[in-house]
Amino acid sequence: MKKISVILIVTAACLSGLPAQASPEVDKLLQKYQQQGAAVAVPEQGKNLWYSKNGDRGCINCHGSTPADTGRHVRTNKAIKPMAASVNPERYQDSKKVEKWFLRNCKWTLGRLCTAQEKANTLDWLNSL
Ligand code: HEC
Repeated sequence: MKKISVILIVTAACLSGLPAQASPEVDKLLQKYQQQGAAVAVPEQGKNLWYSKNGDRGCINCHGSTPADTGRHVRTNKAIKPMAASVNPERYQDSKKVEKWFLRNCKWTLGRLCTAQEKANTLDWLNSL
């Protein structure tokens, strides 16, 4: 009896601690970033990066003023589906795609690659929305 209640309490605690969108692919990426030297992701810093500007360039130039809404590519004018994983469950399900776009978009926006820590922070934040 005792054992069962302990198991139940532990299970409940684990479930309540889960991010809004549990995603094995995101977990895999976050682990990879840690292997590359990143500490535990800090979503608040991912949010800061997302809304920061490098001159007139920022993530929101293409992804729109809020991740829950459709964005628009600043150059091609093509619509970009929402980035918030709760709105668009197709997000962050392919690590190759995630890495490809981090590479391209960080270069375009910041003029450099994003660090493993910056990628972890941003991914964790977007995936929690
Ligand atoms: C010049 C336009 C543009 C800017 C600026 C931009 N992005 Fe993107 N981003 C795109 C496009 C286009 C895609 C691919 C289309 C899609 O996934 O809907 C994309 C996709 C992504 C993806 C992959 C999402 C997935 O489903 O796997 C990530 C992650 C991402 N962007 C992060 C960022 C971050 C972080 C910044 C700011 C540093 C940024 N982007 C700035 C255009 C942009």
